[in-house]
Amino acid sequence: LDQYRVFGNPIAHSRSPDIHHIFAHESQQNINYQKQLVDIDGFANAVTDFIKQNGKGANVTVPFKEQALALSDELTERARLAGAVNTLSFVDGKIKGDNTDGEGLVQDLLRNNVKLKNSRILLLGAGGAAKGVILPLLAQQPQSITVANRTFSKAEQLCLQFADPRVTACGFSISADNTFDLIINATSASLSGQLPPIPAQLITPSVVCYDMVYGKTLTPFLVWAKQQGANQVIDGLGMLVGQAAVSFSIWRGVTPAVEPVISALRHALE
Ligand code: ATR
Repeated sequence: LDQYRVFGNPIAHSRSPDIHHIFAHESQQNINYQKQLVDIDGFANAVTDFIKQNGKGANVTVPFKEQALALSDELTERARLAGAVNTLSFVDGKIKGDNTDGEGLVQDLLRNNVKLKNSRILLLGAGGAAKGVILPLLAQQPQSITVANRTFSKAEQLCLQFADPRVTACGFSISADNTFDLIINATSASLSGQLPPIPAQLITPSVVCYDMVYGKTLTPFLVWAKQQGANQVIDGLGMLVGQAAVSFSIWRGVTPAVEPVISALRHALE
């Protein structure tokens, strides 16, 4: 049985083993996937030990994604630009690092019939979560990606890294003259019950609002967007399952169906 892990601290809440076991069952792949709590200073050892035990691959979550990047012998371009690795593959004695978060988001947007080509995207936040999705979004040929952050200088820094005229930075006081087709909340504000303070005029019936966070109830940002009249609001559950599906296909060469897993997790939340 091929062995996989998810490494994190904390890790108890991780749904990754459930998700990957459903993928494996549905695609008739024989795998075992476990979560592993790793000491704050024990990440490299945990990976080395797992490789010795013939582990085939691992997901990496908070707070080890940057360490996973540093530990990788080979990196994909999207992982390099994300500055973080969430998927490790152990192949021919090498550690290969990838980041599937952005592709997970893109897949979830497309699954929800959100048009990305030529769209004007407002990305809220300039931390790790925002950084990881820019290259995969650019691959969908949007008209623009405007990165808005509470700390403007961080948004500016981030945009400089991409050196793409479609990617520009601003603060939260965005002029209401701007029109966006899609607003993605990549700040961690929802986790503390807060809202990124963007002008309400940006929310029109046709703008799609997405929050990378999900929960039992709609996130504060999505509640607010609905109150302002947005017709389509989407939380990050599909992104979670989507990034797992991309990891699974890297390891197994099979793209699993995400719908049954999203439904099962949604149901379990209720
Ligand atoms: P993550 O990996 O989740 O992106 P991070 O790198 O710590 O975490 O980044 C958190 C992001 O959420 C940042 O963009 C942060 O804004 P600042 O750069 O100004 O700190 C943003 N953020 C966190 N709490 C917020 C709040 N209450 N309102 C608006 N933005 C917030």
